[in-house]
Amino acid sequence: MASFEALLLGWYEHSGRDLPWRRTRDPYSILVSEVMLQQTQVERVIPRYVRWLERWPTAAALADAPLGDVIREWQGLGYNRRAVRLHRAAQRVAASGWPDDLTALPGVGRYTADAVARFALEQDVLPVDTNVRRVVDRTGGAFGSVSAHALIDLGATVCLARVPRCGLCPLSAKCPARGRRYEPLRKQSRFEGSFRQKRARVLSLVAQGTRPASELDGDAVAALVRDGLVRLEDELVSLP
Ligand code: ADE
Repeated sequence: MASFEALLLGWYEHSGRDLPWRRTRDPYSILVSEVMLQQTQVERVIPRYVRWLERWPTAAALADAPLGDVIREWQGLGYNRRAVRLHRAAQRVAASGWPDDLTALPGVGRYTADAVARFALEQDVLPVDTNVRRVVDRTGGAFGSVSAHALIDLGATVCLARVPRCGLCPLSAKCPARGRRYEPLRKQSRFEGSFRQKRARVLSLVAQGTRPASELDGDAVAALVRDGLVRLEDELVSLP
């Protein structure tokens, strides 16, 4: 009988997703996509990724952009600190090239480093995010780096966290976890009513124009200043 990996790769050939960042091997483009995808859904990322690369096609172009423009372009993607870190990463790359250890770049953790190494540099590593970890854990399969895109897609479209669609799964015949449901798992905390929402609202106002600090939530401003997302000078809050 075919191995899990052979079944998975066969499935990917006809059911894999055609995503814009899968058509390039440019490390900067892959980095942009992976940082956007860290906490934002694929469908929301697609148009923003395309627009971003039209505006800043290289790390050098992004490095030269004012941070305020970068933060404004990021609006709507959420978790705005990623914009500041991506800008800093581009400045590092523009100044001294890509480091051997990609986790040396701001905002780049193990998964993102491995994704750039795999999808841009074609290194023999398997990037493991929560979706991939789930598929590997449930199936007990041995998957190599050739399966990276296929595992991401199976985890995102079939082997879902709570109610897996085993009827559609190429691995279900041999899967020890077949048909099992899982407890709800809230991986991002609730946005409505949160401090994160308050911060996002304040940043969105400041992105439209400089505001007096007195009109804004003080705790949110302090947190945004600390993260380098806004500047507070003479009681005025502006983008950096
Ligand atoms: N392709 C490459 N990396 C991806 C990711 N993190 N999510 C969806 N598709 C991808």
